[in-house]
Amino acid sequence: MEGTFLRWLLSLNLLVWFTTDQVLPAGLTVSPSRSQFFEEDSVSLSCEEDNISAGWTVRRNTTRGTRTQCDGWGKPAGSTCYMRYLVPSDTGVYWCESREGAASSSIQLTVSGKIRLWS
Ligand SMILES: *[C@@H]1O[C@H](CO)[C@@H](O)[C@H](O)[C@H]1NC(C)=O
Ligand SMILES: *[C@@H]1O[C@H](CO)[C@@H](O)[C@H](O)[C@H]1NC(C)=O
Repeated sequence: MEGTFLRWLLSLNLLVWFTTDQVLPAGLTVSPSRSQFFEEDSVSLSCEEDNISAGWTVRRNTTRGTRTQCDGWGKPAGSTCYMRYLVPSDTGVYWCESREGAASSSIQLTVSGKIRLWS
């Protein structure tokens, strides 16, 4: 019984991993490279641009706000934004924007709530 459940859980995880391990467009680099995350995951978002002096920063649109900068919801480090503890409301569109307002292509990130088995 327990073994069956564990196998089911494992296959579910593999399914999620295989279906979400897609190549994301250049500009904003997501690490780990996926677009689907779970609550409590960590993710690092980097602006991969040749011209460092253009001052690229990560921005996002979520239901909580539009065009907000990393320092409101993540930990900025140069042109990288680190999010240590994702929550479902982090679901939204992320992109890089330069000081002058030029924008990279955007990426849709989805954060699913944790499946609580023993609550
Ligand atoms: C790099 O960005 C700066 C600031 O936006 C700009 O003045 C400069 O011309 C850019 N250099 C190149 C090689 O694109
Ligand atoms: C973010 O939201 C603003 C305001 O609604 C909109 O103008 C902009 O196009 C959005 N950006 C992306 C990348 O979805």
